[in-house]
Amino acid sequence: MTRSHQDKNRRRKGRRNFLAAAAVSPLLMLSRGAADETIADDDEVILRFSVTSDVHFPGPPETNNLPGNTQVIQQRRFTKMVDWVRRYSASHRYPRLDAFAVNGDMTDTGADAERLPFRDTMDRGLPPETKRVLTVADHGYFASTREHWEEVFGTPISAHQVIGGYHFITLSPPDTRFYDGMFAEQIDWVHQQLKQAVADDPEKPIFFFQHYPISRPEPRDANRQPQWLYGRSTIRCHQANWGPSDLYGLFQEFPQVIDFAGDSHYPICDPGSAWQDRFSAFGTGTLCYLKMLEEPYWKYPEGRFEYAQFYIVEVHRSGRIHLKIANLATETFIPLSFVIPAPGHPDSYLYTDARIDSYPVPVWENGAKIKIPYTTEHGGGFRFEQTKNRENTQSYWITFREKGKSGAEPDVEKYVWSEFYRYPVPDSIEYYEDRLRPQTEYEVTVTPISFFAGEGKPISAAFKTVENRPSHY
Ligand SMILES: [Fe+2]
Repeated sequence: MTRSHQDKNRRRKGRRNFLAAAAVSPLLMLSRGAADETIADDDEVILRFSVTSDVHFPGPPETNNLPGNTQVIQQRRFTKMVDWVRRYSASHRYPRLDAFAVNGDMTDTGADAERLPFRDTMDRGLPPETKRVLTVADHGYFASTREHWEEVFGTPISAHQVIGGYHFITLSPPDTRFYDGMFAEQIDWVHQQLKQAVADDPEKPIFFFQHYPISRPEPRDANRQPQWLYGRSTIRCHQANWGPSDLYGLFQEFPQVIDFAGDSHYPICDPGSAWQDRFSAFGTGTLCYLKMLEEPYWKYPEGRFEYAQFYIVEVHRSGRIHLKIANLATETFIPLSFVIPAPGHPDSYLYTDARIDSYPVPVWENGAKIKIPYTTEHGGGFRFEQTKNRENTQSYWITFREKGKSGAEPDVEKYVWSEFYRYPVPDSIEYYEDRLRPQTEYEVTVTPISFFAGEGKPISAAFKTVENRPSHY
C-alpha cells in the first residue's frame, strides 16, 4: 500500500472517529475507571485467579541469557508477582486464590536449570489450595521434551480441570512447531471438553488457555493499513497476523469461551489486548521483555525489560467477570481494566471491532505547542505535552516538511509511542531528529493516534536548521 493511500485511510478514519467519539459506550468508559472500584460492593467475588505468561525464566549466568534478563532479576520479579497475588487474595473478603495460570514460555529454553527454579519459586509462594493452570509451547521445548515438562509440573500439557465449579481448559502443542493447522489432531478433544463444560452449566464461562494468539482464518481487510488492525489478528500482538486460526471456527459455537493467549509480549494495557466477537479473547502480555508493533513503529522501546503486567481475574456472584491489570513494578492496578458483564452473551460484549469506529480520538489540551529547545545542522530536539486523553493515545506521527514545498509526502517522518506501557504514563514526549538538511526552514507536525488508529488534529511549529559548519579538525 502506498503512503498516500495510507494517508487517505488515516484522514478518512480520523474524521469518522471524530464524529463517533461522542457515541462511545458509557459501559466501556466505566470499565476504564479505577480498576478496583467498578463493581458494586454487594456483588461479591466467588472465584479468583491470576494469569501471566512469557516469564522467560533464564538459566544461570553462564548460559546464554538475553541482556537485561538474568536469572537473579527474573527470580526477583516472579517471586514478587507470586507474593503479591497471594497477599492480595488473602486481604480480601473472598480470600482465596483459586488458580494460578502461566500461559506458556515460563522458561527461555526449558532446560532444568531454568524450569526447576521456576517451578520451585511458584510452589514456594502459592497457597496450598491454589491449582496450577499451565501451558507450554516453543520456549518450553528447545531444551526439553513434552514428557519431561509433564513430569516436572505433574500435569498433562493439555488438560481440563474444574476449579471452584468453573471449567479451565489448557491446550498445548507437542513440540516447537507453529503453523495454521497445528491443533488439527487435538481439535476433536477440545470440542468434547467444550461440550462437556456447556452440558455442566451453559450459563457459566469456560476459561481457555493456550500460548499463541488466535487469528481469524481471513483478514478483516487485506488491502487496508494498518494490518495490526485490519489483518487476521484478534488480540493485539507484536506482529500482525501472528497466531494459528485453528480454534477460531470452533469457538464460534461457544460464546462461553474466554480465551487467554500469551506469546504477544505486547502490553496488556493497550485496550486492543481485549477482543470480543462470538467469544472473548485476552492477551496476557509478558512478565519479562516487551515487544511492540513492527514498522513503522519501533518494536523494542527503551526500558522494555522493566515492563511486567498480568491479570487478576475475579468472577462475581452476578456472573460479571472483572480482569484487573496488575503492574508489577508499582504493585498497583493500572486505571484500565476489562469487564465482561454477561459472559456467554455476545450482545453484551464491549471489546468488539466496533471500537475501530467508536473509540475516542486523541484531543490536545487547549493551546498545545511543540517546543523546540535547540536546533542542530540536521534537526534538533522537540518536546510536547501529551494529549488531554492520553489514556486513549497510542502514539504520535511526527513529520517534517521543508517550508514551501508542495506535495503530501513529508520529507522525514517517524512514529513514536505515547509510552502508554509505562505506568504512570509520562506527561510529555521528547523526540530528537537528525535526518534534515542544514540551514533549511521546516515545519514539524505532530498528529496523535488512538489505540484503534484514529487520528486527532495535528499541531505544528516552524523552525530552521543551523548552518553546516566545516570541522576545524
Ligand atoms: Fe515469549
